[in-house]
This record gives sequence, structure tokens and C-alpha cells, in this order.
Amino acid sequence: MREVLLALLPRPLARWVEIQKLSWQLRRYRSPALLKVTSLIARTADLDRIDRLRRELQPAYRADPVSAAKYADHRFWLPFNVHRAAALGLHAQTGLRILDLGCGPGYFLAVARALGHECCGVDLPESGFSPVERRVYGEILEALGCRHLASPLTIERMAPLALEGQYDLITAFWICFNRHRQPDEWGAPEWRFFIQDALGRLRPGGSMFLELNAHPERYGALRWYDPDTLAHLRSVGTVEKNRVRIPAPGHGS
Ligand SMILES: C[S@@+](CC[C@H](N)C(=O)[O-])C[C@H]1O[C@@H](n2cnc3c(N)ncnc32)[C@H](O)[C@@H]1O
Repeated sequence: MREVLLALLPRPLARWVEIQKLSWQLRRYRSPALLKVTSLIARTADLDRIDRLRRELQPAYRADPVSAAKYADHRFWLPFNVHRAAALGLHAQTGLRILDLGCGPGYFLAVARALGHECCGVDLPESGFSPVERRVYGEILEALGCRHLASPLTIERMAPLALEGQYDLITAFWICFNRHRQPDEWGAPEWRFFIQDALGRLRPGGSMFLELNAHPERYGALRWYDPDTLAHLRSVGTVEKNRVRIPAPGHGS
């Protein structure tokens, strides 16, 4: 119902409503750290550069509103990612070592860093990006002062992540590395391999958080996974719609 109403509004007004909603949701955490994180980032980031990028990419955004051009709107994506960090409790602790898989424009890296965590991200090498993605991801990472935090890495089926190090938290938001919407989209064997490999990179007490993209044409009522994948995700963690939390092995024992 909410989506239907928002779709009836002119786009700028609908966006304004969404930003107000995010701001209201963030206030409910009653966390001073969360309330000031956006202005903390604004002090050092070059938000004017993202505004310029947004103006330049208006034609690309109009032609394809779901393309990476949508990320050139920091007024929405910064609070959106503050909300992601809040849902993970990142405002209630500091000093976590965080790895973000498929980090894209890097808003989550910027937010997690501003909350006092040590972050890095990986994404496809530039050769894997469309021209719009190359501009958006490169320029926004740069403008947020996060370019040095992101490294090129292609996540591939049944291949261990080519990464060193151990992490307290591994995140992946709006996952596409599973060949989302491709004919060879990952099934349970690929997810099992990926999760087992990633869990081996967690510090004791660490966890993974995955946010899957929907593919209802493929999965029907399950929307995000096939039954075998869902059963596996439930066997290793907790699944709430497209959100999956998986603790490091031995956690709580
Ligand atoms: C929908 S975007 C999400 C970006 C960001 N995580 C967010 O939620 O704002 C998916 C991201 O995954 C990256 N990606 C897609 N396939 C990948 C792969 N095989 N390995 C690494 N990153 C990949 C894309 O380049 C893009 O940045």
C-alpha cells in the first residue's frame, strides 16, 4: 500500500517522504552517534561532487532508474546506509573489522568508518563495470574519501575469496555476485561453498550479514531463494525475508 501511494507522488516528493521516514526511523534508536554520522561524513566528503554527478547523470537515471545512476543522490543513500549500520548495531560498539562484499559506491563503508570501525570493501574490477557504474562507483568512492578502502575482486562460483585477513563482520547488501537474474544464478551448492569459505574468515564471535536481491520470476513465493538454499541458510543462521545473519562457527558455545 505504501509503495502504491509513493508511486502516485511526483518522484522528488516521493524521495522526500522516504528521506523523512529514514530520519524518523533513525531517531527511534535514540543514539547521538547515529544522528550525527551524516554531518560527520559531510565535513570531510565532497558532497558537491556527488551533486554534480547527479545532475550530469540525470539522463541516465531517467532512462534506467534502477541503474547505478540512482546512487548519485547522497541525501537518500547516506541515511539509508546509516539505517543499515544501525540495524546491525554498529552504533553500539566501535573498532570492528568489517568487510563489505560488492561495496559499489561505498556509502556503507563511509558510514561504518564514521561510526569508528575499520572497513574495507571489494567490488568488480573496472573492466567489469558499465560506463555508468564506472563513473558512479569511482567518483562516489572518491568523493566519500573511501576509494582506498575498496579493492577489485570478482566473487566467483565455487571459488574461495582471494582475500587475506580475518573480520568481525562480513556484509553483502543487495547481492549481485550470485549471478543474480542470470540463467546460472547460484543455487544451494554455490551458497554452501561461499558461506563456508566466508565463515572461515571470521574472527571468533564474528558474523556475516547477507541481503539478497529478489527474483520472484525464478523463485515464486519464496522470492529470494530456492527451497534447498533456504534450508541451508536456515541451518547456518537466521533468515528474515531477504536478510540472512550467520554467526561464526562455535558462536555461543
Ligand atoms: C546492487 S549493487 C549493491 C551495491 C551496494 N552493496 C549497495 O547495496 O548499495 C551490487 C554490487 O555488487 C557488485 N558485484 C556484482 N557482481 C560481483 C562479483 N561477481 N564480484 C564482486 N562484486 C560484484 C556490483 O558491481 C555492485 O557494486
